[in-house]
Amino acid sequence: MALLPSLRAALPNATIWDAAELASRDPGFDTRNFGASALVRPRDVEEVAALVKFCSERGISLVAQGGRTGLAGGAATSQGQVICDLGGLNRIEDIDPFTRVAIVQAGVTLGALQEAAAQHGLDPGIDLAARGSATIGGMVSTNAGGIMAFRNGTMRHRVLGLEAVLPDGRLFCDLTRVLKTSAGYDLKHLFIGAEGTLGIVTRVALRLDPVAGASATALVGVPNAASAQHIVRHFLTSTSARLTAAEILWRNFASLMQRSLNYASGSLPLDAPCLLVLGLGADSIEAARSALEGGLAAIWEEVGIVDGLVASSEGQAAAMWRLREETVEIERAHPMAPSFDVSVPAGALDAYVARIEAGLKKLDASYAPYVYGHLADGNLHISLNCEGPVPHERHEAIEDVLYEGLREAGGSFSAEHGVGLEKREAYERHADPVKRDLAKAIKELIDPGNVMNPGKVVG
Ligand code: LAC
Ligand code: ZN
Repeated sequence: MALLPSLRAALPNATIWDAAELASRDPGFDTRNFGASALVRPRDVEEVAALVKFCSERGISLVAQGGRTGLAGGAATSQGQVICDLGGLNRIEDIDPFTRVAIVQAGVTLGALQEAAAQHGLDPGIDLAARGSATIGGMVSTNAGGIMAFRNGTMRHRVLGLEAVLPDGRLFCDLTRVLKTSAGYDLKHLFIGAEGTLGIVTRVALRLDPVAGASATALVGVPNAASAQHIVRHFLTSTSARLTAAEILWRNFASLMQRSLNYASGSLPLDAPCLLVLGLGADSIEAARSALEGGLAAIWEEVGIVDGLVASSEGQAAAMWRLREETVEIERAHPMAPSFDVSVPAGALDAYVARIEAGLKKLDASYAPYVYGHLADGNLHISLNCEGPVPHERHEAIEDVLYEGLREAGGSFSAEHGVGLEKREAYERHADPVKRDLAKAIKELIDPGNVMNPGKVVG
């Protein structure tokens, strides 16, 4: 039987689209997301397992998809492949305010979980710009980090337990709800960051944290990242308020955003070499604002703060955040611009940015990267001011500039977006060779037929 009729016979109750239907729909961030021959949207774990078995028995590649806003091509598909769309597994099964644990299905968006947890004065402790589209399953599969990772860790640190359908259809069930388990290999971690190459994550137990009553935002201009880090250290030691965000924007990126968002010059303090968006939580908005104002005033001279403004309204705070988060403007200005996602050890940020700016200029005098990111954990996002894709050799040369020495210094060529397809070659060139060998052996052991998201992460 042909693929579509057999899929419909095997999964009579699931939503199934053929290639023509896929072609007529929005593929999300990556046009390759809908290159497959079929999409199946199971309604429950049993249907996911039935789909996995169907594909395994026939040697058909299966690619799990969540919000389809991933940035490394991890959800890209091609002809002959089948998509497992987790959008049907969208139930928050339990939020226990006493133990502060949520049990959620993989297709729940981060935004939906944030809203549900907020009803109990709780929060998943993780936040990112794509909160409206990113799903918990996708975030687990890429080990997403985002804005609060410096406080609460990445997805890996938020997951207490998880359930995943293995390539042979068995259910790996480790829905532990407790923090401590010292019971042998902690295999759930294999699925975190595996981008669907070892199985399909279907359900997750997550830690929740109490949220502060209110939070205030400031935009601060500083001469460099070291000054910004000084400010972060100051607020981290505060006992009356809690630092919830410290996002850095280098001037080139801030200028692009200011132009794209049509912000009048002078409406926000935007002229310094680096800008810092700070979030501070406290019991009330007044307390949060006054802690921000007081804290900045106390170190203003010492740090060499150039300019700064504490938002006096929600609208002003939102305008500050848009400046940081509407990064789709880069894509609009430079379609398919080559972009990167590195982790740089804390003490080396200014030197790193100076080095890559000079190195990129050497490759092409017109290159001026847009650099921004999560200051407090050293995760920088870098996009080039040119249209992509660039020729393969040029891409490699750019990567050499960006990744040189990073691993040796204790950083990473891939911080939070995953390896997917985009960083496959970088993975081969820059990941530890023994780690790569072990990863390949694990992939072969768990997915001997190479059915789950083939060609991604480990190849
Ligand atoms: C961000 C995404 C790109 O931090 O990770 O905006
Ligand atoms: Zn980020």
